[in-house]
Amino acid sequence: MKQLLEILSEKFSAAFEKAGYSAEYGRCVVSNRPDLCEFQCNGAMAAAKAYKKAPIMIANEVVANLPDDGTFKSVEAVAPGFINIIISEKTLNAYLNEMAVSEKNGFEPKSVGKTAVIDYGGANVAKPLHVGHLRPAIIGESVKRLLGFDGYKTIGDAHLGDWGTPIGLIFTEMQVRKPDLVFFDENYTGEYPTECPVTLKELEEIYPFASAKSKEDEEYRAKARQAVFELQQGRRGYRALWERIMEISREDLKKNYDNLNVHFELWYGESDADPYIMPMIEDMKNKGIAKISEGALVVDVKEETDNKEMPPCMLLKSDGAVGYDSTDLATIVQRQKDFAPNKIIYVVDKRQGLHFEQVFRAVRKAGIVGDDTDLIFLGNGTMNGKDGKPFKTRDGGVLRLEALVQDVRDHVAEKMADRDLSDKEKDEIARKVGLAALKYGDLSNAATKDYIFDIDKFTSFEGNTGPYILYTMVRIKSILEKYSLVTGISANDVLDKVSKGKIKLSQIEGNDSEKKLKLQMSLFSEYFAQAVAEIAPHKVCSYLFELSNFFNSFYHENKIVSEENEEKRNGFIAIICLTLKLLETGIDLLGIEAPEKM
Ligand code: ARG
Repeated sequence: MKQLLEILSEKFSAAFEKAGYSAEYGRCVVSNRPDLCEFQCNGAMAAAKAYKKAPIMIANEVVANLPDDGTFKSVEAVAPGFINIIISEKTLNAYLNEMAVSEKNGFEPKSVGKTAVIDYGGANVAKPLHVGHLRPAIIGESVKRLLGFDGYKTIGDAHLGDWGTPIGLIFTEMQVRKPDLVFFDENYTGEYPTECPVTLKELEEIYPFASAKSKEDEEYRAKARQAVFELQQGRRGYRALWERIMEISREDLKKNYDNLNVHFELWYGESDADPYIMPMIEDMKNKGIAKISEGALVVDVKEETDNKEMPPCMLLKSDGAVGYDSTDLATIVQRQKDFAPNKIIYVVDKRQGLHFEQVFRAVRKAGIVGDDTDLIFLGNGTMNGKDGKPFKTRDGGVLRLEALVQDVRDHVAEKMADRDLSDKEKDEIARKVGLAALKYGDLSNAATKDYIFDIDKFTSFEGNTGPYILYTMVRIKSILEKYSLVTGISANDVLDKVSKGKIKLSQIEGNDSEKKLKLQMSLFSEYFAQAVAEIAPHKVCSYLFELSNFFNSFYHENKIVSEENEEKRNGFIAIICLTLKLLETGIDLLGIEAPEKM
């Protein structure tokens, strides 16, 4: 289905041509003066320069050449040469009726057959998820869903930090505390126990303890480094212990991500790229792009046009160890081999921007992916506290993600306390609405920007919030319930009838609030195409917010179920069902779920 602006632009392009001008000037846009008109065509202004003619003359000629087919209610050329457009009810209704029966509400996916990998986990094994992991998870999940909506086959990868320094520290400390563990015995040749010798709780205590100790103790630090090295070299006992730890850690991470309604297709870790590292380095040596610098093996990625520091990409450190750079490079080798993706998108803290720039440049230099594969770093800003600094617990510690999610949920639950609902219902509402508050509060800000976490604002049922959007949806559902009491047709059947074109918009002209709502609905494809093109979930939020506002005005200014004119009432029902569907599509792309009641 064509976008509404495309349809209008085509009519204007034809009129430009008929009047003797190039069709390219026919582009129509949504009006930035909604008090005057709904759409505008400003092409006469640009054409005036090219044709050396007064813009108002061109505008008048174009208006005279528009077809008289009932598309417009009014078209007016105004000084100095703008064309103000008001679309007819008939066109709008026909467009919405078609949207209602179309797949994806008429949105045309442009990327069918393409593949995108989204790297948006980045949690580190044996360290609990903390608020720093919140934004990549929330934004990444939404980006994945948006690209999927556009037709991409999407693969989300958790890309766990599974064998860097933290695991070395844990091994070192475990060896101090439990030296007799068979995993540490170098002479042991038998099977290792299948049980993990530490619990998650213990790990969570061991890691910060060991990390603090290593900062003061050089020898301890060296031991940890050695442990990582031996693990990577394949020492049997270490591998076995690492696998046990990975298992319980991954399970816990999965549970936490599930609670956020964030799901990964792949649960790879940095270690999964390891087999690709040495062959990749060999290849880079053969291509002559790897060189020794101060004992390390690096790829120079500086360019003449750089006006900032651009250190080389590190393949092997001077002690022969592989690090973050080579791991990310090899991960791209692996992804290219497994999926040959058209896009790889990283949703990672924006402070890692330099690292990814180095890596992407090295990838291009080595030709690891084709020129037509986009490598995109979507660096996310920080979630700050009211003091403008990164969000912390009251005593200044790093806040666990679980605790934050629970806090928001409790906040919503408090508001629900005196509602006449069962405990089970209240619980379900608090879970869904709490998560929506948290996610929407995040996603409604551009990903790269920092924002302030404000629990009262985020959980408010009014304003640009997740709960407000959900409240609007619940309101529509309750109207449908009322309608079904009156007519005996269940809400689901009504929705079904609308989606099959059996209940349609009415041709009887409605009031202003109805027209405004319908206009916003009709722009669904435009907005969502833009959100996809710019990989911008916040554009989905602003569409949903405006749609909700227009819906609520419409709701206040019209009697829906009690409308006596049958055609009109059916028209209203079609409008609210389509509104609900648009909202449902939108929140799903944000990774948000709606409750039945609120
Ligand atoms: N584990 C990393 C960290 O905590 C983030 C990983 C991000 N993804 C990537 N491909 N490097 O800093």
